[in-house]
Amino acid sequence: MVLVLCWFLFFTTRTLALSTISPGQSIKDGETLVSASGNFELGFFSPGNSKSRYLGIWYKKASTGTVVWVANREASVSDASGVLSINDKGVLSIMNGTKGIVWSSNTSRNAAEESVAQLLDSGNFVVKDRIDNDPEKVLWQSFDYPCDTFLPGMKIGINFVTGFDRHLSSWKSMEDPAPGIYSFRIDPRGFPQLVLKKGPEILFRAGSWNGVYFTGKSVPKYYTVYRYEFFSNPNEIYYGYKARNSTIFSRYLLDPSGQIQRSIWNERKKDWEVFLTSDADQCLIYAYCGSYASCTTEGSPPCKCLEGFVHRSASTWNLRPVLWIANRNKPITDTSGRLTIDGGGILILLDGRNSSIWSLMVPRKAEAPVEQLLDSGNYVLK
Ligand SMILES: *[C@@H]1O[C@H](CO)[C@@H](O)[C@H](O)[C@H]1NC(C)=O
Ligand SMILES: *[C@@H]1O[C@H](CO)[C@@H](O)[C@H](O)[C@H]1NC(C)=O
Ligand SMILES: *[C@@H]1O[C@H](CO)[C@@H](O)[C@H](O)[C@H]1NC(C)=O
Ligand SMILES: *[C@@H]1O[C@H](CO)[C@@H](O)[C@H](O)[C@H]1NC(C)=O
Repeated sequence: MVLVLCWFLFFTTRTLALSTISPGQSIKDGETLVSASGNFELGFFSPGNSKSRYLGIWYKKASTGTVVWVANREASVSDASGVLSINDKGVLSIMNGTKGIVWSSNTSRNAAEESVAQLLDSGNFVVKDRIDNDPEKVLWQSFDYPCDTFLPGMKIGINFVTGFDRHLSSWKSMEDPAPGIYSFRIDPRGFPQLVLKKGPEILFRAGSWNGVYFTGKSVPKYYTVYRYEFFSNPNEIYYGYKARNSTIFSRYLLDPSGQIQRSIWNERKKDWEVFLTSDADQCLIYAYCGSYASCTTEGSPPCKCLEGFVHRSASTWNLRPVLWIANRNKPITDTSGRLTIDGGGILILLDGRNSSIWSLMVPRKAEAPVEQLLDSGNYVLK
């Protein structure tokens, strides 16, 4: 069932039409920052019927008021006394009416000469040196702390050097942005996989980095609108996507009920068009077909043996057999947990946790754009 989310947020805002704040300046409740082209706005809001105030970022041009990020998720301001400011060291903080610090950012790098916080047109809120526009050199950025919305340009993944784990976490409820029970993250064990978790339990495996679309062979609408990226090297693993056309607004939401919805803004209908949800595709369910099998949403039954494998279990597909036997002359089990391409040009994803071949990722005759696994380890769709 497609749950259509409607956010009715009431804002009484006085727009400064500025995209930056510097030490000495502040954003009071009721004032906002607006990104240069007016795509996003930052300020205080209350979700649903809640009276609590949160500092957040929402769309301004499209879908006005749909919140994509919240700073003080776990510590709201009880009234309209909240103030956002930045100090000389580039640390952002939200203070309440009694000057109590409700939330503050943490900058891991050395302070800038002259720090400034800027709301970018991508929806990223960054703290940087005023004169340094190198995106690699930001002191702090909201994209490093995703909430329930995965925007183009964000990364989900793990930096093994710093131990930093960027993942989505659902809101507790429509009125409480505190982290809920669901998370969408990379499970780095063996061959890394994108998983949807409920607490510690894996609900879905969403091997989206095949570069074309989610698992299963049905090609969803709009897949050509994005460029997906899966990057893996010994220091870092991440998954991200970019819209090919920056005038298109799209998002990836993990809602409070644990459903992932991918949607695109339809300017004509003035509404989000949901084009993929996690429970619309049974092939996303972790190990739905077991090992050595492919899963096709259009198929009935959806599960099929991989070529060269026979179904050994007497049970039916509905019982989700997990036992498959290889009868190929060429061994294709690769214990290093990598993507391999067999003679037929089929891309195979190995499940690193078992070092077994888990799913068939790309149709032989891809009408889809060209994918390439580069020497750098970057897996791209072109
Ligand atoms: C302001 O924040 C401080 C620190 O979080 C807290 O102790 C205090 O009760 C808050 N004051 C109000 C009026 O909410
Ligand atoms: C801030 O970052 C430092 C170093 O990365 C870490 O040790 C510290 O716990 C962080 N503080 C907070 C409040 O997150
Ligand atoms: C991007 O989308 C807009 C609106 O749909 C369209 O007018 C424009 O030509 C597109 N640009 C590119 C490069 O495709
Ligand atoms: C991994 O192997 C164990 C034992 O062989 C099996 O019970 C389990 O279902 C396998 N997991 C997956 C994801 O295939």
